[in-house]
Amino acid sequence: MVKFPEGFLWGGATAANQLEGAFDQGGRGLANVDLVPTGPDRYPIITGHMKHFSFDEDHFYPAKEAIDFYHRYKEDIALFAEMGFKAYRMSIAWSRIFPKGDELEPNEDGLAFYQSVFEELHKYGIEPIVTITHFDMPMHLIHEYGGWRNRKLIDFYERLVTTLFTRYKDLVTYWITFNEINMILHAPFMGAGIVFNEGENEEEIKYTAAHHELLASALATKIAHQINPNNKLGCMIAAGQYYPHTHNPADVRLAQIMDQENYFFIDVQSRGVYPNYALRRLAAQGIQIPFEKGDEELLKENTVDFISFSYYSSRVASADPKVNQQTEGNIFASIKNEYLKSSEWGWQIDPLGFRITMNELYDRYQKPLFVVENGLGAADKLDQNGRIEDDYRIAYLKAHIEEMGKSIEEDGIPVIGYTSWGCIDLVSAGTGEMKKRYGYIYVDRDNEGKGTFKRIKKKSFDWYKQVIATNGSNLENI
Ligand code: BG6
Repeated sequence: MVKFPEGFLWGGATAANQLEGAFDQGGRGLANVDLVPTGPDRYPIITGHMKHFSFDEDHFYPAKEAIDFYHRYKEDIALFAEMGFKAYRMSIAWSRIFPKGDELEPNEDGLAFYQSVFEELHKYGIEPIVTITHFDMPMHLIHEYGGWRNRKLIDFYERLVTTLFTRYKDLVTYWITFNEINMILHAPFMGAGIVFNEGENEEEIKYTAAHHELLASALATKIAHQINPNNKLGCMIAAGQYYPHTHNPADVRLAQIMDQENYFFIDVQSRGVYPNYALRRLAAQGIQIPFEKGDEELLKENTVDFISFSYYSSRVASADPKVNQQTEGNIFASIKNEYLKSSEWGWQIDPLGFRITMNELYDRYQKPLFVVENGLGAADKLDQNGRIEDDYRIAYLKAHIEEMGKSIEEDGIPVIGYTSWGCIDLVSAGTGEMKKRYGYIYVDRDNEGKGTFKRIKKKSFDWYKQVIATNGSNLENI
């Protein structure tokens, strides 16, 4: 039996572009994520290798309507409350607040929408955990400024966060500056609004944009603490420890390098300095980070309060080019681990890797951890009774929560909470599919946009309710 701390924040997580819909309502401006379709063009678009700046008839754009949370949030939050949620992680759509991104005044309709969502959560005693940007930005900032490659974006982000921290001072305490900041390396259009031009040095652009996001994150931390000293600011990484494929030192070394590539961002956000390994490696590639006067101090003086992360799987590195059997993963693939089983989408399932990753994160940063994403994407089916018996999801979550419990109890890691991903079915970030479902709540909507949006509780709904009611001490299937 696992014992979780008093006040542990159990809940679920979502992102604006994957559930709100209403892409052109309430004065919302067009965002990068609106223009990302399903199908084979999705990957070249999200990686910034295919410019796709307007809608066409040949594609389906799932974010336009998503699961219509914009109109149904009261019903959805009531369901979260029924499960006993203590926390709900959600994100702000930047283009609802500043439709173009560079205006001086915010859009009141957008601010009022989130205010109402936060108030609804508080009505049930649910703590909002707010991601300021989760793979989205106003398209105008991409057209006009080229996204985060441009340092001016820091000013617009500053205006956004100042508006949010001021308006929601009494409603929100937990803020996450950028979702999965390391995704800038793997999905730069989603992570930073970057579209590459022919012949550009892509690494240089990505690390320049990363520098701007890191500065923006530090600035947000500074402003948040000034506006309300109780505010708690977190960084967020797509985590998952790299294992060496063999005990060959070359594999071990490569695994270390691959981990550093991801930890680089958190090293800066949590320790406040660029790590030497990154500076040396970038310099060796001829890449200069565009540091300006005051940047070092800003980063140094404004480190995060907690480390949040997503965990879906561990990863494997091999220095041997003959070892190249790949497995699917969260946007970027890895070498297959023969000891692990995979989900229907080929993501490998490794609950112990969750504990290993948590230990690594805590050893490295010594700050409280917050698990803000974890879960199983599966093609749930309604049975003849109209029920979804998602025992496979319960098994996945149970195994992961058990390992998290051991990390807390046996390894002594302070963990603030656990918000599993996609607590209500939503659009997949990687594929755009609706079919890839993570929720405790089924949504009647398919890959082509057909369906009634009806919400149906799955078996895991009752199971998670029991988990929360017992503060994690009863994880048994029901
Ligand atoms: C994370 C993202 O990368 O993984 C989420 O923060 C995303 O936005 C989640 O949805 C699961 O990935 P996918 O591709 O299955 O939706």
